[in-house]
Amino acid sequence: KILSDKGLPKAVEYSGENGWKDMIDKEDLDLVYICSPWDLHTPMAVYAMEHGKHAATEVPAALTIEDCWKLVETSEKTRKHCMMLENCCYDFFEMLTLNMARNGMFGELVHAEGAYIHNLLDLNFNKKGYESMWRLKENIDYNGNLYPTHGLGPIAQCLNINRGDKMDYLVSMSTNDFQMGPEAVKRAATDPFYSEFVGKKYRGNMNTTTIRTTNGKTMMLQHDVTSPRPYSRIHLLSGTKGFASKWPDPERFAFGEEWMKEEEVAKLSEKYTPPIIKHVGEIAKKIGGHGGMDFIMDWRLIDCLRNGLPLDQDVYDAASWSCIVPLSMKSVKKRSSSVDI
Ligand SMILES: NC(=O)c1ccc[n+]([C@@H]2O[C@H](COP(=O)([O-])OP(=O)(O)OC[C@H]3O[C@@H](n4cnc5c(N)ncnc54)[C@H](O)[C@@H]3O)[C@@H](O)[C@H]2O)c1
Repeated sequence: KILSDKGLPKAVEYSGENGWKDMIDKEDLDLVYICSPWDLHTPMAVYAMEHGKHAATEVPAALTIEDCWKLVETSEKTRKHCMMLENCCYDFFEMLTLNMARNGMFGELVHAEGAYIHNLLDLNFNKKGYESMWRLKENIDYNGNLYPTHGLGPIAQCLNINRGDKMDYLVSMSTNDFQMGPEAVKRAATDPFYSEFVGKKYRGNMNTTTIRTTNGKTMMLQHDVTSPRPYSRIHLLSGTKGFASKWPDPERFAFGEEWMKEEEVAKLSEKYTPPIIKHVGEIAKKIGGHGGMDFIMDWRLIDCLRNGLPLDQDVYDAASWSCIVPLSMKSVKKRSSSVDI
């Protein structure tokens, strides 16, 4: 419908569980853009690269350490790009603070925080939410941070992870489940569809993971998709000279014990807004996609591919940001013992 409304030719359709393989086999493609449920990200990306196409996958790129290695090894072997589509790295405040960090405005960054705090309780349990309830099912029997990359990606870039520093080890702690089990019971009382979700072992509602880097910095990540509270990815940067935080609102800076005044923030933003935002920021806001960050990410991906530039987020970022999923689970299982990254 989108195409016909714009007078464009109809798209070729592939369907069925393995239709994506037929598409990759038959079509002359440069890039395969993967927006499927989590468990299909790695198989689809690997198949695409093995068939000569670059892969761009939704987050997380992989759910297991084996799959993280598969992505890296396949990308190296086939010499095809594999980018994880961490759109939050392209949000406006994140891009501004990355540019400020690179220009030394925060001094040496010592600590950073990120999160995915988003109340998806209703959406996860909604029959019209995720196809075949896949996302609710991912919350059963896995206990850790299931969705670390929205919080981690932007702060990892500010801390130069994989470009001078690297994540060394983590400790991870989860609460019990106080929300999903009761929600299943409540819904099953009037709708037998939900019976299969009763009595399951749901993920602890709040997971907190701390990561230490080789250069002695720390990062704190949180994951909570069930609590009735405002959305937050935190995005906090604390350095030897300055501080920034995005959530809770408003976006704030401090270069001392007082918060910076609004007029001064505006001046700072003007000075450190990176060239890519000056170039496509306005059109991105008009076109939208999570406030424009999706557009900026896609624009930049195509820019890199067309001009032979290294990607902002490469396969090593995809693997190291995604490996927090299985490693946080491992730590939670071992009473929050430290786990090497
Ligand atoms: N980066 C972000 O801001 C953001 C936002 C939303 C979703 N996501 C991610 O995007 C992905 C999809 O999420 P969603 O909300 O669109 O879920 P969804 O359930 O609405 O969509 C999943 C899609 O995958 C398709 N699919 C399932 N099996 C398939 C197969 N074998 N072959 C081809 N297609 C198949 C389904 O038909 C459906 O259209 C997830 O990884 C999710 O985490 C990311």
